[in-house]
Amino acid sequence: MTSLFGPVEFGAISLANRIVMAPLTRARSSRDAVPNALMAQYYAQRASAGLIISEATGISREGLGWPDAPGLWNAEQVDGWKLVTEAVHSAGGKMVAQLWHMGRLVHPDLGGGQPVSASATTAPDYAHTYEGRKPYVEARAATAEDIGRILGDYAAAARNAIAAGFDGVQIHGANGYLVDQFLRDSANFRSDDYGASIDNRLRFTVEVLEAVGDSIGIERVGIRFSPNIPVQGVEDKDPIALFTALAKRLEALKVPWIELREANRPTSAGSIPTKPVSPAIRPLYSGRIVLNSDYDGPGARARIAEGIADAISFGRPFISNPDLVERIRLGAPLAASEVATFYSGGPGGYVDYPALDEAEAA
Ligand SMILES: Cc1cc2nc3c(=O)[nH]c(=O)nc-3n(C[C@H](O)[C@H](O)[C@H](O)COP(=O)(O)O)c2cc1C
Repeated sequence: MTSLFGPVEFGAISLANRIVMAPLTRARSSRDAVPNALMAQYYAQRASAGLIISEATGISREGLGWPDAPGLWNAEQVDGWKLVTEAVHSAGGKMVAQLWHMGRLVHPDLGGGQPVSASATTAPDYAHTYEGRKPYVEARAATAEDIGRILGDYAAAARNAIAAGFDGVQIHGANGYLVDQFLRDSANFRSDDYGASIDNRLRFTVEVLEAVGDSIGIERVGIRFSPNIPVQGVEDKDPIALFTALAKRLEALKVPWIELREANRPTSAGSIPTKPVSPAIRPLYSGRIVLNSDYDGPGARARIAEGIADAISFGRPFISNPDLVERIRLGAPLAASEVATFYSGGPGGYVDYPALDEAEAA
């Protein structure tokens, strides 16, 4: 039987175990979106994960609307990330960069100018800005020229990720950001080649994967979706039809791994999940499937044994348990994460969660 602690290949990346660190925005970069030594320390503490997926990382100023989140569009950011990837590799880990364009969720205070999306829509709720929460503004529908520029930005950010020492990239196709805004029918009202039919709604995602695959090799590219939950106003009337059609395209493109944030219970933001799509995807897609959301050690072992998932990713447990892999191996209790310090900046609640031996010694 496949073990959570057995090795696995994600295309060109060899993982020592099947416990993946999920992408976690922690807002510890500079206002110029440059990573730093504190972030290197945080990620290196978690390097026993089979694979670390970085926090969401902007591909362009236009696409990055989260205060103090990192980017990958200039040389300074590449140099900052080198500190991180070198620290993770020295500690024996593997790491990919999660590439992010937030689309309509970028407030003009951060991105500059009116945000772009699949269609002219306004996200619900509030944007994070340096002056606190502000209502989102209406996005404009991306023109053909915008789409061409954004595909170029994805390709350039992927090349920068490799230059910065990452083992590969993950396209952020989840959680109501730009890729998801094109995919799902509550945010895409286009009547051109990028909208209406499922095939057309898949087009932007496929083009992003092709652009990034052409720039760094598809064997280093993964993608994440949140297929069965409404997130930030983005959802779909028929997730099974959409994501099974997508799975066939991913198979044809030879995308080596996907991560599904597939909730089994209401999320912390209160979204109610629909039926999981992973059982329908499994027979159509031969790459690796990583499942996420609300797992603990026994739950993860059970999912792996079932045969749909090849790996399990953990988000919040990795915030508060830098040695999560060891704790799961031992069946040791997991420390709870503190919500107040998720995005607070600085070392508190970031690099000061102890590993088990440190906690016992204290
Ligand atoms: C503080 C925080 C930051 C997050 N940042 C990201 C992110 O940058 N990219 C992303 O795809 N998901 C992000 N997520 C979602 C997590 O990756 C994960 O899907 C979620 O926490 C559920 O998994 P868990 O139950 O193991 O925590 C974030 C979640 C939290 C709690």
